[in-house]
Amino acid sequence: MAWIYVSEEQELQEGNMVSVYPLGVNTVIARVNGTVYAVAGKCLHMACPLFMGTLDSYILTCPCHDWRFDIRDGRFLDAPELSLKTYPTKTENGKIYIDFN
Ligand code: FES
Repeated sequence: MAWIYVSEEQELQEGNMVSVYPLGVNTVIARVNGTVYAVAGKCLHMACPLFMGTLDSYILTCPCHDWRFDIRDGRFLDAPELSLKTYPTKTENGKIYIDFN
């Protein structure tokens, strides 16, 4: 595993998401029920920035045309064969890391 620092833990409140760019890769991290999830930051439809959408429990809705994704596995709800890339995360000493391998 190659863990890459992406954010201070305190900058990601419960139920929120933020945009981060580890190694220049557009990524969204979100915290739901205390767990941090990381998914690709661009929508599969027309690449709109997903961090500008809404998060309702585990469902991230794109701000442009309302495609909905489950942040736990990246799955597009209306066509589960499509999914956002997801990344493992860990939190250590108040810092959030993503594994890009
Ligand atoms: S760009 Fe996300 S739904 Fe169209």
